[in-house]
Amino acid sequence: MTKTRANIDFPTEIVEEGKVKILVPKLKAFIKLPSDYAPSKAPVFYNPVMELNRDIAVLALQTYQKMFNREISVCEPLASCGIRGIRFATEVKGVQKVLINDINEKAFQLARYNVQMNGLSKRVTVKNQDANFFLAHYGAPRKRFDAIDIDPFGSPVPYLDSAIRALRNGGLLALTATDMAPLCGVHPKACIRKYGGKPLRTEYCHELAVRLLAGCLATTAAKYDIGISVVFSHSTAHYIRIYAITNYGAKKADESIKNMGYILHCFNCFHRETTKELLLLEHSGRCSECNSKLNIAGPLWIGKIFDREFCELMQQEAKQRKFRLDERIGKILTLIKGEAEASVTYYVIDKLCDLLALPVPSVKKVVEILRKGGFQASLTHFNSKGIKTDAAAMKIQQILQRTVKAKRQT
Ligand SMILES: C[S@@+](CC[C@H](N)C(=O)[O-])C[C@H]1O[C@@H](n2cnc3c(N)ncnc32)[C@H](O)[C@@H]1O
Ligand SMILES: [Zn+2]
Repeated sequence: MTKTRANIDFPTEIVEEGKVKILVPKLKAFIKLPSDYAPSKAPVFYNPVMELNRDIAVLALQTYQKMFNREISVCEPLASCGIRGIRFATEVKGVQKVLINDINEKAFQLARYNVQMNGLSKRVTVKNQDANFFLAHYGAPRKRFDAIDIDPFGSPVPYLDSAIRALRNGGLLALTATDMAPLCGVHPKACIRKYGGKPLRTEYCHELAVRLLAGCLATTAAKYDIGISVVFSHSTAHYIRIYAITNYGAKKADESIKNMGYILHCFNCFHRETTKELLLLEHSGRCSECNSKLNIAGPLWIGKIFDREFCELMQQEAKQRKFRLDERIGKILTLIKGEAEASVTYYVIDKLCDLLALPVPSVKKVVEILRKGGFQASLTHFNSKGIKTDAAAMKIQQILQRTVKAKRQT
């Protein structure tokens, strides 16, 4: 049966994103108060700001498909109007089929309309079920998907178990989390409940958020004797995103769990360190630089959160395409490639300069000085004033003092 627009009984409009045209709720029609957040006021969720998230998802999926060089099946269990899944089917070569699903009847109607409007009825199937119930049907061998993209309201944690079970060995799992208040330590108890790790309100809390989510994924997957490798992740102001590949086998799960640990942070001098000693029995709990009490974040993932080669392939892929947000995507990918092998956590020079009552020097200049001094140093996409380095906090403080003094003398 052909769906007509008449079945959709709320104000809509057609938007273009990537290579597709999609019928979405007309957001302006749902704003009653200036404080209203339009995407969640509409009967079907649609957030134009997530275009960047979806563009990067297209690049990651294409990179994955090319790495494994096979036809892939993709699932988006929380699809809303279907824009993401429809983009996968249209823009990613080698996608054989896409299954999209949403519990909201109106979202289902809209997604079905959009699939037909884009001429994809043969390759894209739309369902209207609870995401966990839906995924449960694909948990058996030969039924599993090559890639699953979980893009929920808030936390993806309620869907992790069923997504992992519905993903084949070597499958790609993409997760969005928008519950930044728990993950960044504003509501630590909620983070411990949901993610099983303690957050910290530090200047690098967005990286901690990625590591808490990756840690939660690794421990969830390990229950099923599945290991994970995190190949890509990124953060913006209101969400984080991770991409992980699963590896079946108890040994793989053990290896993956070895990446779990803690980050110890000194709020006095900004020193930080990682540890794998779960009970911290051999650790004094004191800062090695200033002897203040250390604060703990974790357990969380202290392993790699980017794979340099995967980033490079994504970059190559981006260069062959034309996105509206090309420039922003290019910058993010360059920064991420540059920080792919850098140390865990980053320093924010504004914070250090505040502590030292110094004017803030150029972040690129500080990176240059650190490198000249024999340290590893790179910028980070997590924060425009952030530096990833293996230099100690005290060393960076000295460098900042010297840089500012030298500038004053010239
Ligand atoms: C953030 S929106 C998805 C946006 C979409 N992925 C995109 O890129 O535009 C989350 C969606 O999850 C749906 N949802 C919430 N709980 C669900 C559940 N238990 N099962 C399936 N869908 C659910 C909501 O109806 C909503 O459409
Ligand atoms: Zn200290």
